[in-house]
Amino acid sequence: MFSTPFVLSFALLLSLPLLFLLAPRILPPRHVPISLPDELDDLALFRRAALASSHSSSATAAVSRLGTTNPPPKIAFFFLTNSDLTFAPLWERFFKGNEHLYKIYIHADPSAKVKSPGGVFEGRFITAKKTHRASATLISAARRLLATALLDDPSNTFFALLSQHCVPLHSFRFVYHSLFASSPADSSDESDSYWSRFGRVKYRSFIEILDKEPTLWDRYTARGKGVMMPEVPFEDFRVGSQFFVLTRRHALLVIKDRRLWRKFRLPCLKLESCYPEEHYFPTLLSMEDPKGCTHYSLTNVNWTGSINGHPHTYRSAEVSPELVYRLRFSNSTYSYLFARKFSADCLQPLLEITDSVIFRD
Ligand SMILES: *[C@@H]1O[C@H](CO)[C@@H](O)[C@H](O)[C@H]1NC(C)=O
Ligand SMILES: *[C@@H]1O[C@H](CO)[C@@H](O)[C@H](O)[C@H]1NC(C)=O
Repeated sequence: MFSTPFVLSFALLLSLPLLFLLAPRILPPRHVPISLPDELDDLALFRRAALASSHSSSATAAVSRLGTTNPPPKIAFFFLTNSDLTFAPLWERFFKGNEHLYKIYIHADPSAKVKSPGGVFEGRFITAKKTHRASATLISAARRLLATALLDDPSNTFFALLSQHCVPLHSFRFVYHSLFASSPADSSDESDSYWSRFGRVKYRSFIEILDKEPTLWDRYTARGKGVMMPEVPFEDFRVGSQFFVLTRRHALLVIKDRRLWRKFRLPCLKLESCYPEEHYFPTLLSMEDPKGCTHYSLTNVNWTGSINGHPHTYRSAEVSPELVYRLRFSNSTYSYLFARKFSADCLQPLLEITDSVIFRD
């Protein structure tokens, strides 16, 4: 007779190879490293953008000294996506008639075969690479957008990151004036400029920066204990919404960064705590220029009842003028300008209230 322990260990031994065979199919991929060629491509792009920007800023300064009029400042709108731009018709109406005040740049995951919606989006796709949730590839994509827009047009002054699930809550005019008039509400005239280590500067970046979230320690140790040191001590680690509006000098700061990127690009060991794009930008900017940031986002995301790290997704039945008014409202002095996340069936009801509600402000 065999003893039970013997049978048991024999069975266990037999099942081992089976486990190796099946594990990759059962378990989610542990991490998606960024390949060396991709990393080198990005580095070359960031270097070019940084170099061109240092040239163009001195060129613009020289031109304005001569009294030649500069073109008006633009907003660079980024669409970071891995599916079709379902709200393109709504954005089309948003942009209409403001051609000299904006530029559009789309980063679409090449494996998703995203169709061009035409119109204002025609020809605005940038050289993109694969993006994955819970990996640093979303940081890379955002940096690629920043570098491309810096290189493309010296008039790009604000850089607004959006996704395919974002919609506008106001007219273009309102958005443009909100950004360029951005100043602390309680001060007058000179107040929209302030002193930072960049000298006297005019605009601040709209980026959420939070330091008291309950999940922060788990997020900090997602790559292993002590891994982020010495570049990022826990006291400096921040979290914030992925959707930001950065100033040109902060866009430049982000693409020049090598130090923090070395840490944030490392793959996570704990995938359930891995949201690198929600940490890299707030941490870097709060370490480098906290006074140059508003610490809040202009994109309203509803985290009430979030599932699996996804925020509440609005459905067509929820779309109404009241929803737009509710989403605009923040208890501070500013109004939200954009909102997410909306499902595709919201397009028609949103288009119906575009002129009467969304663009009426
Ligand atoms: C946020 O989502 C919850 C459901 O998860 C919903 O009840 C609530 O009305 C939403 N908030 C707004 C402002 O729409
Ligand atoms: C509203 O104000 C309170 C107190 O100032 C603040 O803690 C909270 O985060 C604010 N909520 C929003 C949605 O901005």
